[in-house]
Amino acid sequence: MNSFFITFEGIEGSGKSTVASSISKRFEDAGYTPLLTREPGGTRLSEDIRKILLDPKRNDMCEKTELMLYLASRAQLVKEVIKPALDNGRIVLCDRYFDATMAYQGWARGIGEEMISQLNKVTVGNVIPDLTFLLDLSVEEGFGRGPEHREETGVRVRDRLELEDMEFHKRVRAGYLRIADREKERVKLIDASKKFDFVLSEITRNINDRFGLSI
Ligand code: TMP
Repeated sequence: MNSFFITFEGIEGSGKSTVASSISKRFEDAGYTPLLTREPGGTRLSEDIRKILLDPKRNDMCEKTELMLYLASRAQLVKEVIKPALDNGRIVLCDRYFDATMAYQGWARGIGEEMISQLNKVTVGNVIPDLTFLLDLSVEEGFGRGPEHREETGVRVRDRLELEDMEFHKRVRAGYLRIADREKERVKLIDASKKFDFVLSEITRNINDRFGLSI
């Protein structure tokens, strides 16, 4: 079977992490051995970078440092995990990937499309997702669902990016919608305000149609 690469994107509270693990489970139940990973993170080094990036106390981080750290985390993940898995014919599922850099750093931080587009290319080479699900909902609704992160203590706290104001997150959403509009073939827009079962069945249907499967 040919390998393929699927990514999940969305604003905070869109539910993409839960959806990504449910889709991974669907693949497993259908007899596949998918690799589920996340960004930033997914390797030892990248998880260390993640801690720095999301630490709410690091409010001194400048935009370019933030950008470079996301890219560094991704370069390591691609080299160490994603590329070898795809080369071995596996299905790779990733919770966020380079579209997040375009939406957050490119649009919301204002670094700009051209610079991000070039740096994304340098970072991932030809490791481009075959299919991307953009779980879309309003920023108000996303925030209403509360932070997805859980500290070891079990207490939910907002991370450094989640602490940005509503206007920042509205720019993130607008950035994502722009990507979906431009890349209709790769990026599927999913209404994440709908019930979880509906969202999951929409995604499953798209995967089955695209790859000729029945998970
Ligand atoms: P998560 O909430 O999906 O775990 O992602 C961590 C945060 O990092 C989230 O606020 C989005 C942000 N992010 C970026 O700003 N740029 C990126 O390139 C990636 C992958 C994530």
